[in-house]
Amino acid sequence: MLERIEQLDRESQADLAQVQDAAGLEAFRIKYLGSKGAVKTLMGLLKDVPGVQKPAFGQGANALRQKLEAAFEDKKANMTGSDGKPSVSTPNAQGKIPGGRLPGEQLPGVDITEPGLPPRLGREHIITQTIDELVEVFGRMGFDVATGPEVEDERHNFVALNIPPEHPARDPLDNFYLDSNHLLRSQTSTIQVRVMEKTQPPVRVVAMGRVYRPDAHDATHYSMFHQVEGLYVDRKVSMVDLKTTLIQFAHAMFGPEADVRLRPSFFPFTEPSAELEVKIELQGQMRWMEIGGCGMVDPNVFKAVGYDPEEWTGFAFGLGIERLAMRKYGIGDIRWLFENDVRFLRQF
Ligand code: DAH
Repeated sequence: MLERIEQLDRESQADLAQVQDAAGLEAFRIKYLGSKGAVKTLMGLLKDVPGVQKPAFGQGANALRQKLEAAFEDKKANMTGSDGKPSVSTPNAQGKIPGGRLPGEQLPGVDITEPGLPPRLGREHIITQTIDELVEVFGRMGFDVATGPEVEDERHNFVALNIPPEHPARDPLDNFYLDSNHLLRSQTSTIQVRVMEKTQPPVRVVAMGRVYRPDAHDATHYSMFHQVEGLYVDRKVSMVDLKTTLIQFAHAMFGPEADVRLRPSFFPFTEPSAELEVKIELQGQMRWMEIGGCGMVDPNVFKAVGYDPEEWTGFAFGLGIERLAMRKYGIGDIRWLFENDVRFLRQF
């Protein structure tokens, strides 16, 4: 019985040596390794083998099957293309052929000629793009960029900005307090104070950054958003300078047809104060949308930072960057900006 194994071994070796193309190799596979092939038949004989020879026969047949499978894979790897001919490549000067193989080296199990998958390129978030644009627009008007910390103390977030202790904006429920004196800043006006504390006038800065308020999330509110703050201090600054600056800004940002208006309002750190509104289309209707506050710097703010309010005048403004971006790109819901859904973000 064991001779049957040896015989099959010799026969298959001779057959494999004759194989020259893919069709021949497939015929070899079917003849020896197929579901009705010689190896299967050999295994089928096991039940007729006398008991003492069974283990030896089983092992021998298994070994042959493995040997044939390996020889088949080997031969297959040495063939390329549908013609089944071994690959013929011309070595370059280093003795390597294009693709980095040595002549005769086996092809790996991957098709190295297949075009690669293009990597998906990322891009800046729409808020970052808007911040860059703001830096650019205000930069052209002569504003430098200032920054400040997101964890602030009460002096910079409220006291120096003329916001008294009983003011509703200081309510602990309307702020993210960290301890009795520190909170996540609720406005970028803090940076006005920081800039004036360390610079002598004249001052012309813009500052962009995150602010935090425990607002319930809806289409126009989020507990974190961004503001752009502006501060201009010099002698004889007037409301005309403020309005001209904001109109120029709106035209640069939204185009020359953009309509803006100032609506009288109140902020503790400006006097007089106004709300800046831009005309936008909402649900098919043209409406005024508030994009921020502004006004002439209150003398009490100048006193708090050691500027003489008799000598210095100034204007300030603070605008919501999400609102600017939503107005500019027609985004209907602020939450979309922070969900990190690439299908939304990659449109911009
Ligand atoms: N800080 C105000 C807010 O968050 C916005 C603001 C209003 C900023 C008037 C200013 C300003 O600089 O002059 O609601």
